[in-house]
Amino acid sequence: MHNTKTFIHDCPFTAMHISKKREVREQVRDGKIYSVTVDPIYNDKNEFTGAVHIMSDITKLKEAENQMRDFATHLQRAREEERTALSRILHDNFGQYLTGLKMEVSSLEKKLNKILNINDYPELPEKFISMKSILDDSVALTSKISMELRPNILDMLGLIPAIDWLGKDFSEKSGIKCDIEKKVTSIEINPRYSTEVFRILQESLTNIVRHANATKVKIILLEDIDGYTITVIDNGRGIEEEEKKSPYSLGLLGMKERAMIFKGTVEISGKTKKGTELTIKIPNNTL
Ligand SMILES: Nc1ncnc2c1ncn2[C@@H]1O[C@H](COP(=O)(O)OP(=O)(O)OP(=O)(O)O)[C@@H](O)[C@H]1O
Ligand SMILES: [Mg+2]
Repeated sequence: MHNTKTFIHDCPFTAMHISKKREVREQVRDGKIYSVTVDPIYNDKNEFTGAVHIMSDITKLKEAENQMRDFATHLQRAREEERTALSRILHDNFGQYLTGLKMEVSSLEKKLNKILNINDYPELPEKFISMKSILDDSVALTSKISMELRPNILDMLGLIPAIDWLGKDFSEKSGIKCDIEKKVTSIEINPRYSTEVFRILQESLTNIVRHANATKVKIILLEDIDGYTITVIDNGRGIEEEEKKSPYSLGLLGMKERAMIFKGTVEISGKTKKGTELTIKIPNNTL
């Protein structure tokens, strides 16, 4: 239970500084955090006569919230590190081994062609074609999985080329048209934070495929004195207020948590049957 105190100001002069509507705010006093709710009181003639002032000590609740947030950030970071490590192994080791194997198979084919009479082994050319094709498919699949785990384009070329890749990949897989309007040439951001921005965009596009029933998506990249803004607009059914507030909306919550890591924000709004707009703000102090 929170430690709650109630005060009633029955004198309009004492309560004069109080707003005429209900006000809820947080206040720090003597190292403790309080949630303060102020409700105005009116008499029969609708005259403002005072206010009920409820103060709840929410220090422990705030501490628990901060711990949860730190834990979520820690989990997300650990997951990202694992994905990066796995992606590197797939790309740098496994992919290289398969390429090496394909070279060995080609060289073996050449040697056998020289020493064997092909008429005695008519199935051999077919076998080599099939082996090389399986190896090509395996290399392509390895590189695809590696890219999906963590696009190395993000580390090599930065956020904008990674967003280009994401948009193209999204369109190819979903059949939904995706335009990217760039009003910036580059986004200068700490690489650790660019991963968070990238993952937010990835989740917003996944949501569009799963829930929006959209035919078009537009991603707009902007810069102003406060920092960068990335907006994702779809022309689908439009997210509803209840969906935004639902405690089951863990994807949306995850996006907001990620934005907190770079001290930014994620806002989502929808218009029924018109579409949904998701805005990511990346403040300058992140750069
Ligand atoms: N672009 C969108 N258009 C319409 N509705 C959306 C859109 N994005 C999200 N929603 C609605 O908001 C809800 C919450 O989204 P959220 O990403 O949090 O959860 P989810 O996608 O259902 O599950 P997950 O936890 O796997 O992400 C969705 O279930 C969907 O109803
Ligand atoms: Mg989701």
